[in-house]
Amino acid sequence: MRMHSALSALVCAGTALLAACDSAPPPPAAPPAATAAAPADPAVVRLYSQTCRGCHDPMARTGAPATGDREAWAPRLAQGMDVLVEHTIGGYRGMPPMGACMDCGEEDFAALIRYMSGQ
Ligand code: HEC
Repeated sequence: MRMHSALSALVCAGTALLAACDSAPPPPAAPPAATAAAPADPAVVRLYSQTCRGCHDPMARTGAPATGDREAWAPRLAQGMDVLVEHTIGGYRGMPPMGACMDCGEEDFAALIRYMSGQ
């Protein structure tokens, strides 16, 4: 008898836990693996994941300045944002025109560059 009530208490606790789990809100979308210091606009991050990330991810090793690598971006940024956006639109050495994002505008590119360079 004692044993039984202990068991049912355990089952109840387990059930309560499960119920708590069920009603927990879904976890927020995980941030991208890249560690950009600046808080990023989710829309920019989404765009980045669909396009630039293929080559600019730190693991991609394409020769592209990696996202979050401030050292790699510093000499690029020194050219000025206008030049960087121009190079993005027109292509630059290993960098394809439009960075493979045909729907992006200048504003998007500037935001993506800021995001990748950690600015
Ligand atoms: C197919 C691969 C690829 C994709 C996709 C790509 N890039 Fe690049 N990107 C490169 C490479 C490689 C370089 C380095 C070029 C060099 O300096 O030799 C580069 C360099 C750059 C530079 C620096 C240019 C300069 O003047 O120093 C910027 C800015 C840039 N990319 C922006 C973007 C943006 C924004 C996107 C997404 C919309 C993007 N890239 C997508 C490969 C890519």
